[in-house]
Amino acid sequence: MNTVFPKKFLWGASSSAFQIEGAWDEDGKGMTVADYNSFKKSNIQADTKVASDFYHNYEKDIELMKELGMKTYRFSVSWARIIPDGEGEINQKGIEFYNKVIDKLIECGIEPFVTLYHFDLPFALVEKYNGWESRETVYAFERFAKVCFENFGDRVKYWQPHNEHNLIVRVEERINIYDETDPWKIDKMRAQMDYNLCLAHALAVNACHEMIPGSQIGAAVSSSVTYPLTSKPEDVFAARMNDNFKVYSTLDMHYHGEYPGYYMEYLKKRDIMPYMPEEDKEVLKKAKMDFIAINYYRTNCAEALPVDEEHPFGLREGTVDYSIYGLFRMSMNPNLKASEYGAAIDPSGLRVALNEYWQRYHLPIIITENGLGAHDVLEEGQVHDNYRIDYLRDHINACELAIQDGVEMLGYCPWSFMDLLSSAQGFKKRYGLVYVNRTDHEELDLERIKKDSFYWYKEVIKNNGVTK
Ligand code: BG6
Repeated sequence: MNTVFPKKFLWGASSSAFQIEGAWDEDGKGMTVADYNSFKKSNIQADTKVASDFYHNYEKDIELMKELGMKTYRFSVSWARIIPDGEGEINQKGIEFYNKVIDKLIECGIEPFVTLYHFDLPFALVEKYNGWESRETVYAFERFAKVCFENFGDRVKYWQPHNEHNLIVRVEERINIYDETDPWKIDKMRAQMDYNLCLAHALAVNACHEMIPGSQIGAAVSSSVTYPLTSKPEDVFAARMNDNFKVYSTLDMHYHGEYPGYYMEYLKKRDIMPYMPEEDKEVLKKAKMDFIAINYYRTNCAEALPVDEEHPFGLREGTVDYSIYGLFRMSMNPNLKASEYGAAIDPSGLRVALNEYWQRYHLPIIITENGLGAHDVLEEGQVHDNYRIDYLRDHINACELAIQDGVEMLGYCPWSFMDLLSSAQGFKKRYGLVYVNRTDHEELDLERIKKDSFYWYKEVIKNNGVTK
């Protein structure tokens, strides 16, 4: 069938280690920041101990991926499964597990697409160095990346160093800032961590290119498309700045090897300039990404947020959707409907994002996350998730339009292949094409049940695009 999607388009699906694997301390795995945070919420929702139990079911799960027709599977490896304390001894059992997963994928004709770090920093690095605040963590990450390239690089060609580094630094819990309450100190730490993550990204990109001929590696960003709340010029500027701070300052650093001017100005004025030695520049500038990966869920609005006596320039409020005095304040778009969990549903925003990223960087784009979190209901062994089919269809159509606009796209991977542990809502909020039979507090039989969206997406892959 002729569609606009290229012949070798990577139709796939995504997941991440701590959200599906379980076996949180089995076979030598160390504790991670993701484990630590999930255990604090064990009384209100599921934690990482069992999750979807992919660790013990990976063969059957990959068979299901094959049945779906997936061309690629985007997943993450757990740093602490491979190097339990993040920087010391290598755990052969961890390497063996991922070897088995990768081999099984290849046997099933599925291209492995690996993220090295998806929110699960080994906790030992937090205790020792306060995680990403220290350059020791940067070098530990470089070594971990090299261990992965060495062991899996003969079979894995597609890599992402970090998942959503531009989002990680916004959330105190993810970057392990637990006790600090002074907003200036938090912003200072955040700025240093952001820079260190950029450096770690660059070191991994360079090592990947040196160690794996023909490899492709790129950044996975949590995308941001911001509409001005009104047509007032100051609100238009605020919307641009919101995108700049939320996504482009990171992508520009990955692409050009330096932060853009407006971000440097903010660091100066807020007096939180990170330590960025001159010699890093060579590493940063050498690291050329091969593609950009976008995780796209929603869009927002922004308006100007003037400073006042109590709120000086640069003061932040909020976490993921933070505002900055003197720059922007975010809000929901009154013109869009939201999911039951409050995310604005906006397929045409995806077309905007794809065009913007393509025009800015001219790098091929893959979507490594896009999906609808919903409270699915299992009825007589079936899940009728038409709302998810509608969501995916509309977003795939937006990709089609973007391709017609001239955007080069590599692939599309909805979030997620199977139900998994959602950060704030555990197993109540499900994203999968495959239902996992458990609740937050009852593991039940963990049976895998194909949802209606599974059968629908199978046709999309077969036809290389949406035909109905
Ligand atoms: C993305 C993350 O930002 O959002 C995933 O990469 C996450 O790990 C997804 O699961 C959905 O967010 P949530 O909070 O609903 O799980």
